[in-house]
Amino acid sequence: MDNAAMKRGVVIEDDWPGYSLDLFTYPEHYHEDIDSVYIPNGVIMNRVERLAHYVMDDFGDSIVVLCVLKGGYKFCVDLVEFIKVLGRNSDKYLETRVEFIRLKSYLVGELHRNDQPTEELHIIGSRDLSFLRGKSVLIVEAIVDTGKTMKALLKHVETFEPKMVKVAGLLVKRVPNMAENLTDYIGFEIPNHFVVGYALDYNEYFRDLNHICVISKTGKMKYKV
Ligand code: HPA
Ligand code: MG
Repeated sequence: MDNAAMKRGVVIEDDWPGYSLDLFTYPEHYHEDIDSVYIPNGVIMNRVERLAHYVMDDFGDSIVVLCVLKGGYKFCVDLVEFIKVLGRNSDKYLETRVEFIRLKSYLVGELHRNDQPTEELHIIGSRDLSFLRGKSVLIVEAIVDTGKTMKALLKHVETFEPKMVKVAGLLVKRVPNMAENLTDYIGFEIPNHFVVGYALDYNEYFRDLNHICVISKTGKMKYKV
């Protein structure tokens, strides 16, 4: 496979219906709230392990992992764990320090909620990222779509003069104004669907689902705010 194809990650085509719920296990209380298992947990895990290899190859002996909460927490935990295991099983050990950042996006004049697109970036929690100075930084984010949020975050991170910054996105959405080349490590390129699970939420629900799933009409209604 050539580099360009590898860079896109695992490409999920527009017509991918996902797997029937009956084929996998999931919390019983979500039975009516999801339509299909879009990406099973095992597939996610193996892809994350592969991304850990890429990170090991590209970074020197230490990195600061900047985890974007809340959606990025599962991806971050699993990625860092794979990096540690790889380090134990090879002659290269990548020392990782993990830091967290929380972003809130607002629609202009209205709170961001449901599955509305996001507009303005606000960094909440630790705004002072001066510990990034001179460091090799890996931003770990669950979803990148238009890249608006990521662009704003990168700009903010750059002001602290890190040595280098790379971005890992578990999912990149194919949207009209897709941000090309913003994400260095892509898990999966997916169609422009709203997905939940593996720490991705719909109004704080579904973070406890291990698979990435497509929410049902019932689910959308039930957890609407
Ligand atoms: N799911 C959950 N949160 C999100 C998504 C999504 O598809 N896109 C942007 N934030
Ligand atoms: Mg959310």
